[in-house]
Amino acid sequence: MLEEKKTIDFRKYPIPRVRHHVNPQVYLPATQAQVDLSWYPPTIETPTWKTWFANGLPASVLDIGSGRGGFLIDHALTYPDVNILGLEVRGILVDWTNDVIDGERIGNARAVWYSLANGLAWIADESITYATYLFPDPWPKARHAKRRFVNRAMLPVVARVLRAGAEWRIGSGRSPRPSRVSPAATTSTRQSWPCCGSIGLPSWCRTWVAQNVVS
Ligand SMILES: C[S@@+](CC[C@H](N)C(=O)[O-])C[C@H]1O[C@@H](n2cnc3c(N)ncnc32)[C@H](O)[C@@H]1O
Repeated sequence: MLEEKKTIDFRKYPIPRVRHHVNPQVYLPATQAQVDLSWYPPTIETPTWKTWFANGLPASVLDIGSGRGGFLIDHALTYPDVNILGLEVRGILVDWTNDVIDGERIGNARAVWYSLANGLAWIADESITYATYLFPDPWPKARHAKRRFVNRAMLPVVARVLRAGAEWRIGSGRSPRPSRVSPAATTSTRQSWPCCGSIGLPSWCRTWVAQNVVS
């Protein structure tokens, strides 16, 4: 018999006041950021899967830019055997998400305070079944483009960790205006850019990335 999915009473976890963006420097790699590194998200050399997940195994799903962890937590409850890792640059949201995860004893989810600008070298090749980036990169202005995670340089970074046939699911609440999501999209046709209107709609896979974007 299938176990019933747990519901969480989020009233137990008051949401802190969160600023929309943090210092723009944290969207740059640590080596380029002109900030006091004591408040820059730690870079990662070796992932501590054993402390992040109850079963001690690596993540097989990545939630890139996990924000308040809504998808992360829901996914973990829906698929209790799947380890999902959230990566998020706003530390206050990471702390809050992990408070819920720990408070509800969810062993297969973890949020990590991290700037994606530092890449994913610490994640093994072809270890991720799929990755999500839901409602990404709120940087529509061209002068802020360098803060976006989804760009031409980052596509092979994500593609490397995806298993063959895996997908990177991008959800956008905006109408499909690819240039608002990624400059990479502006170099491909709109038709081939599966920027979707809601979670779970058209997605793009490793093959698509290799054929259309990675030069
Ligand atoms: C618009 S929010 C979406 C949050 C969440 N995925 C959701 O659906 O509610 C995009 C998230 O990506 C995070 N983000 C943007 N750039 C990032 C980066 N370079 N490294 C880590 N997180 C980043 C932001 O802090 C923000 O929480």
